[in-house]
Amino acid sequence: MGRVFVTRRPVGDGLERLVQAGHAVDVWPDLAPPPDQALLERAQQADALICMLSDRIDAVFLEANPQLTVISNYAVGLDNIDLRAAAVRGVAVGHTPDVLTDATADLAFALLLAAARRLPQSAQAVLQGRWETWQPDSFLGADLVGATLGIVGAGRIGEAVARRAAGWSMRVLKTTSRGGTPLSELLSASDFVSLHVPLTPSTRDLIDARALAQMKPTAILVNTARGPVVDTQALAQALHAGTIAGAALDVTDPEPLPPDHPLLRAPNVLVLPHVGSATPRTRAAMTDICVDNVLAGLAGEPLPYPARAA
Ligand code: DGY
Repeated sequence: MGRVFVTRRPVGDGLERLVQAGHAVDVWPDLAPPPDQALLERAQQADALICMLSDRIDAVFLEANPQLTVISNYAVGLDNIDLRAAAVRGVAVGHTPDVLTDATADLAFALLLAAARRLPQSAQAVLQGRWETWQPDSFLGADLVGATLGIVGAGRIGEAVARRAAGWSMRVLKTTSRGGTPLSELLSASDFVSLHVPLTPSTRDLIDARALAQMKPTAILVNTARGPVVDTQALAQALHAGTIAGAALDVTDPEPLPPDHPLLRAPNVLVLPHVGSATPRTRAAMTDICVDNVLAGLAGEPLPYPARAA
Protein backbone atom coordinates (compact mmCIF):
# COMPACT_ATOMS: atom_id res chain seq x y z
CA MET A 1 0.00 0.00 0.00
CA GLY A 2 1.26 3.50 -0.89
CA ARG A 3 0.51 6.87 0.66
CA VAL A 4 -0.51 9.64 -1.73
CA PHE A 5 -0.60 13.34 -0.86
CA VAL A 6 -2.78 15.48 -3.14
CA THR A 7 -2.20 19.22 -2.78
CA ARG A 8 -5.78 20.29 -3.75
CA ARG A 9 -9.00 18.37 -4.35
CA PRO A 10 -9.03 17.70 -8.12
CA VAL A 11 -12.19 17.62 -10.26
CA GLY A 12 -14.05 14.30 -10.68
CA ASP A 13 -13.93 11.06 -8.75
CA GLY A 14 -10.61 9.76 -10.13
CA LEU A 15 -8.95 9.61 -6.69
CA GLU A 16 -11.38 6.78 -5.83
CA ARG A 17 -9.27 4.46 -7.96
CA LEU A 18 -6.31 5.05 -5.66
CA VAL A 19 -8.40 4.06 -2.65
CA GLN A 20 -9.78 1.01 -4.48
CA ALA A 21 -6.20 -0.04 -5.24
CA GLY A 22 -5.51 0.01 -1.50
CA HIS A 23 -3.57 3.27 -1.30
CA ALA A 24 -4.05 5.84 1.48
CA VAL A 25 -5.00 9.24 0.08
CA ASP A 26 -4.43 12.50 1.94
CA VAL A 27 -6.04 15.53 0.23
CA TRP A 28 -5.14 19.09 1.30
CA PRO A 29 -8.53 20.38 2.44
CA ASP A 30 -8.25 24.11 1.70
CA LEU A 31 -8.94 26.09 -1.45
CA ALA A 32 -5.65 27.93 -0.93
CA PRO A 33 -2.47 25.97 -1.67
CA PRO A 34 -0.57 24.44 1.25
CA PRO A 35 2.07 26.86 2.56
CA ASP A 36 5.64 25.70 1.82
CA GLN A 37 6.17 24.17 5.28
CA ALA A 38 2.83 22.30 5.20
CA LEU A 39 3.55 21.04 1.68
CA LEU A 40 6.89 19.73 2.88
CA GLU A 41 5.54 18.09 6.02
CA ARG A 42 2.50 16.45 4.38
CA ALA A 43 4.61 15.24 1.45
CA GLN A 44 7.10 13.71 3.88
CA GLN A 45 4.31 11.34 4.96
CA ALA A 46 3.76 10.20 1.36
CA ASP A 47 5.29 7.94 -1.30
CA ALA A 48 3.51 9.72 -4.15
CA LEU A 49 2.52 13.32 -4.73
CA ILE A 50 -0.21 14.79 -6.92
CA CYS A 51 0.62 18.49 -7.16
CA MET A 52 -0.68 21.61 -8.86
CA LEU A 53 1.16 24.03 -11.15
CA SER A 54 1.34 26.49 -8.26
CA ASP A 55 3.31 24.07 -6.04
CA ARG A 56 7.06 24.61 -6.31
CA ILE A 57 8.81 21.24 -6.42
CA ASP A 58 12.45 22.23 -6.42
CA ALA A 59 15.72 20.56 -5.46
CA VAL A 60 15.34 21.57 -1.80
CA PHE A 61 11.87 20.01 -1.65
CA LEU A 62 13.11 16.83 -3.33
CA GLU A 63 16.10 16.63 -1.00
CA ALA A 64 13.73 16.78 1.97
CA ASN A 65 11.51 14.06 0.45
CA PRO A 66 13.81 11.13 -0.42
CA GLN A 67 10.90 8.71 0.16
CA LEU A 68 8.87 10.02 -2.85
CA THR A 69 8.83 7.63 -5.78
CA VAL A 70 6.44 9.46 -8.10
CA ILE A 71 5.25 13.03 -8.65
CA SER A 72 2.21 13.56 -10.81
CA ASN A 73 1.59 17.15 -11.92
CA TYR A 74 -2.04 18.22 -12.44
CA ALA A 75 -0.99 20.18 -15.53
CA VAL A 76 0.75 19.65 -18.82
CA GLY A 77 3.28 22.41 -18.06
CA LEU A 78 6.16 21.29 -15.87
CA ASP A 79 7.96 24.54 -15.07
CA ASN A 80 7.03 24.21 -11.36
CA ILE A 81 9.10 21.02 -11.08
CA ASP A 82 12.88 20.72 -11.19
CA LEU A 83 12.94 17.77 -13.59
CA ARG A 84 16.71 17.38 -13.49
CA ALA A 85 16.76 17.21 -9.68
CA ALA A 86 13.95 14.63 -9.80
CA ALA A 87 15.80 12.53 -12.38
CA VAL A 88 19.00 12.62 -10.32
CA ARG A 89 17.04 11.26 -7.35
CA GLY A 90 15.23 8.64 -9.44
CA VAL A 91 11.80 10.18 -8.83
CA ALA A 92 9.39 9.53 -11.71
CA VAL A 93 7.49 12.64 -12.85
CA GLY A 94 4.25 12.59 -14.82
CA HIS A 95 1.95 15.25 -16.32
CA THR A 96 -1.35 15.56 -18.21
CA PRO A 97 -0.76 16.07 -21.94
CA ASP A 98 -3.40 15.84 -24.71
CA VAL A 99 -6.58 15.93 -22.60
CA LEU A 100 -6.41 19.71 -22.15
CA THR A 101 -5.35 20.59 -25.69
CA ASP A 102 -8.82 21.43 -27.02
CA ALA A 103 -10.02 23.30 -23.93
CA THR A 104 -6.88 25.43 -23.90
CA ALA A 105 -6.98 26.06 -27.66
CA ASP A 106 -10.66 27.07 -27.31
CA LEU A 107 -9.72 29.55 -24.61
CA ALA A 108 -6.87 30.99 -26.68
CA PHE A 109 -9.34 31.53 -29.51
CA ALA A 110 -11.94 32.99 -27.13
CA LEU A 111 -9.33 35.49 -25.91
CA LEU A 112 -8.34 36.31 -29.46
CA LEU A 113 -11.94 36.99 -30.48
CA ALA A 114 -12.74 38.89 -27.29
CA ALA A 115 -9.76 41.19 -27.75
CA ALA A 116 -10.29 41.56 -31.50
CA ARG A 117 -13.94 42.57 -31.10
CA ARG A 118 -13.41 44.49 -27.85
CA LEU A 119 -15.90 42.41 -25.85
CA PRO A 120 -14.69 43.54 -22.38
CA GLN A 121 -14.93 47.23 -23.31
CA SER A 122 -18.34 46.98 -24.96
CA ALA A 123 -19.82 44.72 -22.23
CA GLN A 124 -18.57 47.16 -19.61
CA ALA A 125 -20.24 50.06 -21.43
CA VAL A 126 -23.58 48.23 -21.16
CA LEU A 127 -23.06 47.48 -17.44
CA GLN A 128 -22.11 51.11 -16.77
CA GLY A 129 -25.18 52.54 -18.56
CA ARG A 130 -23.13 53.96 -21.45
CA TRP A 131 -25.23 52.23 -24.17
CA GLU A 132 -27.08 55.29 -25.35
CA THR A 133 -27.76 54.57 -28.99
CA TRP A 134 -26.54 52.49 -31.94
CA GLN A 135 -23.59 54.26 -33.47
CA PRO A 136 -21.87 53.50 -36.76
CA ASP A 137 -18.41 53.89 -35.29
CA SER A 138 -18.65 52.65 -31.72
CA PHE A 139 -16.50 49.73 -30.51
CA LEU A 140 -15.00 48.99 -33.89
CA GLY A 141 -12.80 45.92 -33.66
CA ALA A 142 -10.48 43.86 -35.83
CA ASP A 143 -11.49 41.39 -38.53
CA LEU A 144 -10.22 37.83 -38.29
CA VAL A 145 -10.92 36.62 -41.83
CA GLY A 146 -7.80 37.14 -43.88
CA ALA A 147 -5.75 38.30 -40.90
CA THR A 148 -2.39 36.72 -40.05
CA LEU A 149 -2.06 34.67 -36.87
CA GLY A 150 1.44 34.02 -35.56
CA ILE A 151 1.71 30.91 -33.42
CA VAL A 152 4.80 30.85 -31.22
CA GLY A 153 5.33 27.21 -30.24
CA ALA A 154 3.50 24.84 -32.56
CA GLY A 155 3.12 21.87 -30.22
CA ARG A 156 -0.17 20.19 -29.39
CA ILE A 157 -1.99 23.35 -28.30
CA GLY A 158 -0.41 25.65 -30.89
CA GLU A 159 -1.45 23.24 -33.67
CA ALA A 160 -4.99 23.04 -32.23
CA VAL A 161 -5.18 26.85 -32.34
CA ALA A 162 -3.96 26.74 -35.97
CA ARG A 163 -6.79 24.30 -36.81
CA ARG A 164 -9.32 26.71 -35.32
CA ALA A 165 -7.79 29.60 -37.29
CA ALA A 166 -8.44 27.68 -40.52
CA GLY A 167 -12.16 28.08 -39.80
CA TRP A 168 -11.68 31.85 -39.99
CA SER A 169 -9.58 31.63 -43.16
CA MET A 170 -6.64 33.15 -41.32
CA ARG A 171 -3.11 32.99 -42.65
CA VAL A 172 -1.06 31.11 -40.07
CA LEU A 173 2.66 31.50 -39.39
CA LYS A 174 4.39 29.19 -36.92
CA THR A 175 7.63 29.43 -35.00
CA THR A 176 8.91 26.26 -33.35
CA SER A 177 12.07 25.38 -31.46
CA ARG A 178 13.11 23.43 -34.56
CA GLY A 179 12.39 26.13 -37.12
CA GLY A 180 9.40 27.50 -38.97
CA THR A 181 9.08 31.24 -39.47
CA PRO A 182 11.82 33.09 -37.58
CA LEU A 183 10.34 34.77 -34.50
CA SER A 184 11.16 38.35 -35.57
CA GLU A 185 9.57 37.76 -38.98
CA LEU A 186 6.46 36.25 -37.37
CA LEU A 187 6.15 39.14 -34.92
CA SER A 188 6.36 41.82 -37.59
CA ALA A 189 3.96 40.05 -39.99
CA SER A 190 1.20 38.98 -37.57
CA ASP A 191 -2.06 40.70 -36.68
CA PHE A 192 -2.44 38.31 -33.75
CA VAL A 193 0.38 36.55 -31.89
CA SER A 194 -0.56 33.55 -29.74
CA LEU A 195 2.01 32.03 -27.36
CA HIS A 196 2.22 28.25 -26.82
CA VAL A 197 5.79 27.57 -25.68
CA PRO A 198 6.63 25.83 -22.41
CA LEU A 199 8.36 28.01 -19.81
CA THR A 200 12.07 27.18 -19.86
CA PRO A 201 15.21 29.29 -19.33
CA SER A 202 15.24 29.96 -23.08
CA THR A 203 11.60 31.08 -23.31
CA ARG A 204 11.54 33.23 -20.15
CA ASP A 205 10.96 36.85 -21.29
CA LEU A 206 10.86 35.67 -24.92
CA ILE A 207 8.39 38.49 -25.54
CA ASP A 208 10.40 41.38 -24.16
CA ALA A 209 10.49 45.07 -25.08
CA ARG A 210 12.49 44.30 -28.23
CA ALA A 211 10.02 41.62 -29.37
CA LEU A 212 7.03 43.84 -28.62
CA ALA A 213 8.61 46.63 -30.66
CA GLN A 214 8.71 44.26 -33.65
CA MET A 215 4.94 43.74 -33.55
CA LYS A 216 2.46 45.82 -35.55
CA PRO A 217 0.85 48.73 -33.65
CA THR A 218 -2.50 47.10 -34.56
CA ALA A 219 -1.49 43.64 -33.30
CA ILE A 220 -2.96 41.75 -30.35
CA LEU A 221 -0.91 39.43 -28.12
CA VAL A 222 -2.59 36.32 -26.67
CA ASN A 223 -0.89 34.28 -23.93
CA THR A 224 -2.30 30.98 -22.69
CA ALA A 225 1.15 29.43 -22.07
CA ARG A 226 2.96 30.75 -19.00
CA GLY A 227 3.13 34.31 -17.67
CA PRO A 228 6.93 34.67 -17.49
CA VAL A 229 7.21 34.03 -21.25
CA VAL A 230 6.24 37.71 -21.48
CA ASP A 231 8.14 40.54 -19.74
CA THR A 232 5.18 41.99 -17.81
CA GLN A 233 6.65 45.46 -17.35
CA ALA A 234 7.59 45.73 -21.01
CA LEU A 235 4.08 44.62 -21.98
CA ALA A 236 2.43 47.25 -19.77
CA GLN A 237 4.72 49.90 -21.27
CA ALA A 238 3.98 48.73 -24.83
CA LEU A 239 0.22 48.91 -24.20
CA HIS A 240 0.48 52.40 -22.69
CA ALA A 241 2.68 53.56 -25.58
CA GLY A 242 0.42 52.00 -28.23
CA THR A 243 3.31 49.86 -29.52
CA ILE A 244 0.72 47.08 -29.81
CA ALA A 245 -3.09 47.35 -29.80
CA GLY A 246 -3.99 44.92 -27.03
CA ALA A 247 -3.19 41.86 -24.96
CA ALA A 248 -5.43 39.01 -23.87
CA LEU A 249 -3.83 36.88 -21.17
CA ASP A 250 -4.88 33.71 -19.35
CA VAL A 251 -1.51 33.59 -17.60
CA THR A 252 0.49 36.34 -15.94
CA ASP A 253 3.67 36.95 -13.99
CA PRO A 254 3.01 36.87 -11.08
CA GLU A 255 -0.01 34.64 -10.51
CA PRO A 256 -2.35 35.58 -9.08
CA LEU A 257 -2.01 39.13 -10.40
CA PRO A 258 -2.81 41.54 -7.53
CA PRO A 259 -5.84 43.76 -8.32
CA ASP A 260 -3.66 46.88 -8.07
CA HIS A 261 -0.99 45.53 -10.46
CA PRO A 262 0.05 48.18 -13.06
CA LEU A 263 -0.65 45.74 -15.93
CA LEU A 264 -4.36 45.91 -15.10
CA ARG A 265 -4.28 49.69 -15.60
CA ALA A 266 -2.84 49.34 -19.10
CA PRO A 267 -5.25 50.06 -21.96
CA ASN A 268 -6.81 47.17 -23.91
CA VAL A 269 -5.71 44.40 -21.62
CA LEU A 270 -7.92 41.42 -20.82
CA VAL A 271 -6.74 39.11 -18.03
CA LEU A 272 -8.25 35.79 -16.98
CA PRO A 273 -7.26 33.77 -13.88
CA HIS A 274 -5.44 30.88 -15.64
CA VAL A 275 -8.54 28.96 -16.75
CA GLY A 276 -7.28 27.41 -20.00
CA SER A 277 -8.16 23.85 -19.02
CA ALA A 278 -11.17 24.77 -16.86
CA THR A 279 -13.97 22.56 -18.12
CA PRO A 280 -15.33 19.74 -15.96
CA ARG A 281 -14.58 17.11 -18.59
CA THR A 282 -11.01 18.31 -19.10
CA ARG A 283 -10.22 18.69 -15.43
CA ALA A 284 -11.70 15.24 -14.62
CA ALA A 285 -9.62 13.73 -17.43
CA MET A 286 -6.54 15.42 -15.93
CA THR A 287 -7.38 13.79 -12.58
CA ASP A 288 -7.65 10.39 -14.25
CA ILE A 289 -4.25 10.81 -15.91
CA CYS A 290 -2.66 11.94 -12.63
CA VAL A 291 -4.05 8.81 -10.99
CA ASP A 292 -2.80 6.59 -13.85
CA ASN A 293 0.67 8.06 -13.36
CA VAL A 294 0.59 7.48 -9.59
CA LEU A 295 -0.72 3.91 -9.91
CA ALA A 296 2.08 3.07 -12.33
CA GLY A 297 4.73 4.84 -10.25
CA LEU A 298 3.73 3.09 -7.03
CA ALA A 299 3.74 -0.25 -8.86
CA GLY A 300 7.29 0.46 -10.05
CA GLU A 301 6.13 0.59 -13.66
CA PRO A 302 6.93 3.23 -16.32
CA LEU A 303 4.50 6.15 -16.14
CA PRO A 304 1.93 6.26 -18.98
CA TYR A 305 2.36 10.07 -19.25
CA PRO A 306 5.98 10.74 -18.30
CA ALA A 307 7.47 14.21 -18.18
CA ARG A 308 10.06 14.97 -20.80
CA ALA A 309 12.33 17.94 -20.39
CA ALA A 310 11.28 20.68 -22.87
C1 DGY B 1 -1.37 23.33 -17.77
O1 DGY B 1 -1.86 22.21 -17.68
O2 DGY B 1 -0.16 23.49 -17.85
C2 DGY B 1 -2.30 24.50 -17.79
O3 DGY B 1 -1.64 25.70 -17.75
C3 DGY B 1 -3.31 24.41 -16.67
O4 DGY B 1 -4.19 23.43 -16.88
